[in-house]
Amino acid sequence: MKFIVLTLFKEMFDAFVSTSIIKRAIEKEIVSIEVIDIRAFTKDKHNRVDFPPYGGGSGMIMSAEPLSAAIDFAIDSLKDDGYYEILYMSPRGKVLNYNISKELSTKKYNYIIICGHYEGIDERIIEEYNVKEISIGDYVITGGELACQVLMDSVIRLLPGAISQDSLNEESHTNNLLEYPQYTKPYDFRGRKVPDILLSGHHKNIAEYRKQESIRITKKFRPELIDENLNNNNSKKKEGN
Ligand SMILES: C[S@@+](CC[C@H](N)C(=O)[O-])C[C@H]1O[C@@H](n2cnc3c(N)ncnc32)[C@H](O)[C@@H]1O
Repeated sequence: MKFIVLTLFKEMFDAFVSTSIIKRAIEKEIVSIEVIDIRAFTKDKHNRVDFPPYGGGSGMIMSAEPLSAAIDFAIDSLKDDGYYEILYMSPRGKVLNYNISKELSTKKYNYIIICGHYEGIDERIIEEYNVKEISIGDYVITGGELACQVLMDSVIRLLPGAISQDSLNEESHTNNLLEYPQYTKPYDFRGRKVPDILLSGHHKNIAEYRKQESIRITKKFRPELIDENLNNNNSKKKEGN
C-alpha cells in the first residue's frame, strides 16, 4: 500500500515516518509514504498557494491550481500501481472509526491524501476529483496534517505484518469491545496489587477473566457498543435462518 500525502507543511511528517511501528512498517515494505509539497506546484510569481475567499469572509483558501497540479502528479506516479482513492481530511467528512480504517486497510488501493490548511481548499477540487472526505472528529484543528497521520496510523497498524495479530485481536474497537485493563511490573504499586488471576498461569481462566473485564469496561465507557454488538449478532442470526 502506498500513501501520497499532499501538504504545505511537509516537515510535520518527519517524525511520523521515522518513529516506532510506522518506521518499521516502511522498512519492511508493508507500506510506503511519500510526502509532497503542494507549494512546489504553484505557478504564482510570489509562490502563493492561498487566496482570500470569493464573496468575502475571513482567512485564506487553498487555491485549486497548485493543488490540482500536485494531485495530477500523484495520480501519474501511481499509474503502474493499480487502484487509488483520493481522500481529503475534512471536518465535514465521515468520522473516522475502526470500521473505516479496516475497510481502507483491506482494499487493495493506494491513497492520495490532501491536507487542508487555513480555511480549507477550493470546493471544485472535491468535485473534479471525486474526493472522499474523512474527519477525525467533531472539532476543528489547524490543518489536515495531524488528521492525516491519525488516519494513516490507524490503517497501517491493521496491515498484515505491521504488528502482531494477537495485539490486533484484543485491541479496543476490534469486535466492538474495548480492551481489558492491563498491568505490568511492579506487582505492588502503592498498595494496589495486580489481580491474582493474572499470576495464576492458567491461560483459559485468564482469557475468560479478560473477556469479562472487556465487557465490563465497554459497558462502563461505551455502553452503546454493547448494543451495537447485540444488534449485529441478531442480524447475523436472522441471515442464518
Ligand atoms: C482550520 S481547518 C478549516 C476549517 C473549515 N474552515 C471549516 O470550518 O470546516 C483547516 C484544515 O484542517 C483540516 N481539519 C480540521 N479539522 C479537521 C477534522 N476534524 N478532521 C479532519 N481534518 C480536519 C482540514 O484539512 C481543513 O481544511
